[in-house]
Amino acid sequence: LEDTATALPLKGKRALVTAGPTHEAIDPVRFIGNHSSGKMGYAIATTLERLGAHVILVSGPTNLLPPHNVTKLAVQSAAEMFAACKAEFEHADIIVMSAAVADYTPTEVADQKIKKKAEDFSIALKKTTDILATLGREKRTDQTLVGFALETNNELEHAIDKLQRKNLDLIVLNSMQDKGAGFATDTNKITIINRAGDIESYDLKSKEDVAKDICARIIEHQNAV
Ligand code: CTP
Ligand code: CA
Repeated sequence: LEDTATALPLKGKRALVTAGPTHEAIDPVRFIGNHSSGKMGYAIATTLERLGAHVILVSGPTNLLPPHNVTKLAVQSAAEMFAACKAEFEHADIIVMSAAVADYTPTEVADQKIKKKAEDFSIALKKTTDILATLGREKRTDQTLVGFALETNNELEHAIDKLQRKNLDLIVLNSMQDKGAGFATDTNKITIINRAGDIESYDLKSKEDVAKDICARIIEHQNAV
């Protein structure tokens, strides 16, 4: 007989995962975006579901099919992503924010297509709400909150700072140093840091296998709360 407790360690748990980029509208035909494919977040949602969790995936625009048995909430902007996360947060035991959320959004959205005129042109931007930091302030001790960090310099120092500042349980540092890691690739090289200050570096692997490593650490944390 199959031991379901081992096979489905997250049975009865609810998970909230964000993935993909956000699109910040400039006018009806243009936006500010980034190169996030959403692959990492979708792989995490897939793995959490296979481990038995009930998964809500809040996704920015991607070309990916929603994972089997996962509830996908499609959003465009950082503001929409924030609203969806705020509504789902209190019901979630596990929260993984892998989306590449825009840090700035146009101060105003033009209602008509902006016409080209002068040689120089600039758009006023304002900061978006830091979704992860906001959830970190509201976090309960029975919740596992996981964030990502993408850094190009002083990687560890910046990641540890984000972990502390945003009140996270785990932070996944995406290494940009290695070829084949990061945006729009099928592989990633990560380091996971926890609140105790343990730093674990993993080999370059497929995003599916990276998702398994991250989920193993999530299970470990959930078992401890
Ligand atoms: N994040 C978020 N909401 C934002 C910006 C970021 O929830 N408005 C989350 C991301 O999903 C990620 C984490 O914060 O899990 C870190 O994102 P990152 O861009 O590395 O950090 P920032 O705090 O935005 O700092 P900076 O871009 O200046 O390095
Ligand atoms: Ca950022």
